[in-house]
Amino acid sequence: MLRAVARAALERGWHVHAIGAGLADLADHPGTGTVVDRTDARRTARLLRLLAGHDDGQARPGGLPAATGRRTLVVVDDVEAVRAALSALGNGAGGDVLADTLADSPVAFALAGSGPTVAGLAAHVGVRAVLASRDRHDDVSLGVPTGLAGQGGPPGRAVWLGPGEPVLCQVVLPDDDPGVPADAAAAEQPADAPVRLAAVPERVAGEALPQGAGAVVVGAGGDDAGPVALAPGGGVLVVGPPGSGRSTTLRLLARHAAAAGALRGVIARDGSVGDAVRAVAGARVTVVRRFTPADVTALLDEVAGTVPAAAGGERPVVVVDDLDQLAQLCVLEAERLAALCRDDVALVASSTTASAAMALRGPLAELRALRRGVVLAPAERGSADVFGHELAWLTDPGRPRAGRGVVVEGARLVPVQVARAP
Ligand SMILES: Nc1ncnc2c1ncn2[C@@H]1O[C@H](COP(=O)(O)OP(=O)(O)OP(=O)(O)O)[C@@H](O)[C@H]1O
Ligand SMILES: [Mg+2]
Repeated sequence: MLRAVARAALERGWHVHAIGAGLADLADHPGTGTVVDRTDARRTARLLRLLAGHDDGQARPGGLPAATGRRTLVVVDDVEAVRAALSALGNGAGGDVLADTLADSPVAFALAGSGPTVAGLAAHVGVRAVLASRDRHDDVSLGVPTGLAGQGGPPGRAVWLGPGEPVLCQVVLPDDDPGVPADAAAAEQPADAPVRLAAVPERVAGEALPQGAGAVVVGAGGDDAGPVALAPGGGVLVVGPPGSGRSTTLRLLARHAAAAGALRGVIARDGSVGDAVRAVAGARVTVVRRFTPADVTALLDEVAGTVPAAAGGERPVVVVDDLDQLAQLCVLEAERLAALCRDDVALVASSTTASAAMALRGPLAELRALRRGVVLAPAERGSADVFGHELAWLTDPGRPRAGRGVVVEGARLVPVQVARAP
């Protein structure tokens, strides 16, 4: 039935978005925008919040009803399950997103559910079709008047509950031929095409990413699952809980700085970071693998000596993995690092989310103030405090996946899957 409604809307030139598992075939029509399964709660909420005009810190894509002027229909299958999946998002506020969008947006909805309350949305629902059964009691509990109850049975037999008298009816079968050649639909997205939000990829191979000279492409994501870049500024902070992919992200940033000739030093106990840099820059870059005051001082002396020689106005880069631990073990050296990164050096560092969120002074506090970096596993407590951004709408519920996070660049937020560095 939902498919029939969606097909009819598409034929009339409406834009259609679909939420639910069995609706993927709608995507072959150029008038169809986003088709999303409820298992991707983040993207479902992103779609609904975009349609309702909410701002969650991400750039607004084209193809929204306000820009295209097209009438728009959202079909939602198994609305109870969709609402349950959404409620795991946004610190619990996700459960209200459907109701908010139904109430606030100019978009039309067609919902399919199994209960009389329509997942608590009954107040927003105008017309209902109850697929009737042979059981009078069941039908009545779903809102069918007693006179028409129990007359169902065949698939598609329904009682129509609209503004007028209730009627027993047979629902049309969808016209499964979309009436558009499949290749034309895929190739030609018209200029006013509806927004197609893509899933953030499960994994991204570092080799697959196009690297330019300027910004570092750290992974893929955003609304189009395209490359996500982070411009080299005065410094970058990568945070996450242990095992979230911090060293891997840093390795990628370090390699890029090494290839650009900007890297001056690396302090990392995780040997893979130093190895990756050596592979690109050979012995030109000093790598320290122990957090001892003597080793760190030697490296800082060397970096300070080369600072005036920095070419092209670009700041020399120092990479520090697990900066929170370095700051505990080498207190004075960390202070010196903080002073260096205030003026001369771009510090690219990682830390646990908790330590970064609590840092009020020292190098971690300096980096937080730059509001530039990657928050891995953003469901972790303290994630929103690191850069002062609410990240709940960009966080996938469930078990965190290594390399999944949010790129923060000033006020810009982009969900990302960080690439596994080669
Ligand atoms: N972007 C990614 N894509 C896929 N897997 C990843 C990614 N980043 C890290 N991993 C995997 O997750 C695990 C932990 O990665 P990594 O060592 O980078 O995390 P970490 O936060 O530095 O951990 P630790 O707490 O040990 O320092 C590794 O096994 C790595 O292969
Ligand atoms: Mg690590």
